[in-house]
Amino acid sequence: MTALLELAGITKRFGLVTVADGIDLSVGHGEALGIVGPNGAGKTTLFSMISGDLAPDDGEVRFDGAVVTSRDAAARCRLGLGRTYQVPRPFEDMTVFENVLVAARYGAGLPTRAGYELATSVLAETGLAAQANLRAGALTLLQRKRLEVARALGTRPRLLLLDEVAGGLTDPEVEELVAIVRALRGRGLAIVWIEHVVRALTSTVDRLVCLAGGSIIGDGTPAEVLASAAVREVYLGSDPEAAPAAPERTAPDLLGKLLR
Ligand SMILES: Nc1ncnc2c1ncn2[C@@H]1O[C@H](COP(=O)(O)OP(=O)(O)OP(=O)(O)O)[C@@H](O)[C@H]1O
Ligand SMILES: [Mg+2]
Repeated sequence: MTALLELAGITKRFGLVTVADGIDLSVGHGEALGIVGPNGAGKTTLFSMISGDLAPDDGEVRFDGAVVTSRDAAARCRLGLGRTYQVPRPFEDMTVFENVLVAARYGAGLPTRAGYELATSVLAETGLAAQANLRAGALTLLQRKRLEVARALGTRPRLLLLDEVAGGLTDPEVEELVAIVRALRGRGLAIVWIEHVVRALTSTVDRLVCLAGGSIIGDGTPAEVLASAAVREVYLGSDPEAAPAAPERTAPDLLGKLLR
C-alpha cells in the first residue's frame, strides 16, 4: 500500500537560508509521527508546504498517491489534509460552535445538517461541548488549543497536522491534550505532531523524526531518536545553559528537560 503522505526532495530557501534541504519523508495510513527540532529548524515551514500554505522551491508532495504540489491549501484541505496553526487563529467574534461549523461547511464541504452533526461530534471529541456557545475570543489558552484541534477536525481530515498544540500549557493541561490526541489516534486517524514538549509526543507517537538545519537527522522510535548522538548534539549545542547529562540520566529524560 502506498503511504498516505510522501514528501520527495522538498526544498525551501528563505534568502540565503535553506530551511528544507531535499527532505524525503513518508507517513503511513493511521501512523502517528512526532517531529522535534530546535527553534527555527523549519518544522512549521514543512507543515506549510504539506498543507499548501507555502510552495516548495523544489520537490514533490504526494497525498494518497496523488501529486498535490501545485494544488492550493483549500484543495488539499478537501482531499483530507487538516492542520492546526502554532498561533491559534480562530474567528474571535464567532462562537466556538460557529468556528467548527465554518470548518465543516467550507473545509470539509458538508451541507448544513451534516455540518452541524460533525461540529457537534467534534466538540464532544475535543472536550468543548460546554463552551459551544462562548465567543472564541473569550476562551482560555487550553480551550483555544482545543478549538484549534477542533477546527482542524471539522475539516474531516485523513491526516491531521498538529503544530505545537501543547505549547505554553501546564503539565495537567498537556495531559488533557495528550488524551484527546491519543483518542484520535485510537480511531485510526493519521497524525503528524510537531511538539517541543517531548513527553507529550513519546506517550502518543510510534515514530519520531528530528529536523535540524533543513534535514532529517533522526528517524525511528522515540527512544532511538532521543538517544542518538546527532540529536543530542543538536540540543546540547543549541543551548549554552544546558548542563551535560548526568550519568544516571537517560537521553529521553535529558531531552525532555531541555525541550520544555
Ligand atoms: N515567510 C518567511 N520568510 C522568511 N523567513 C522565514 C519565513 N518563515 C519562516 N522563516 C524562517 O525560516 C526558519 C524556519 O522557521 P520555522 O517557523 O519553520 O521553524 P520552526 O522549526 O517551526 O521553529 P519553532 O520551533 O520556533 O516554531 C526560521 O529561521 C524562520 O525565521
Ligand atoms: Mg514552528
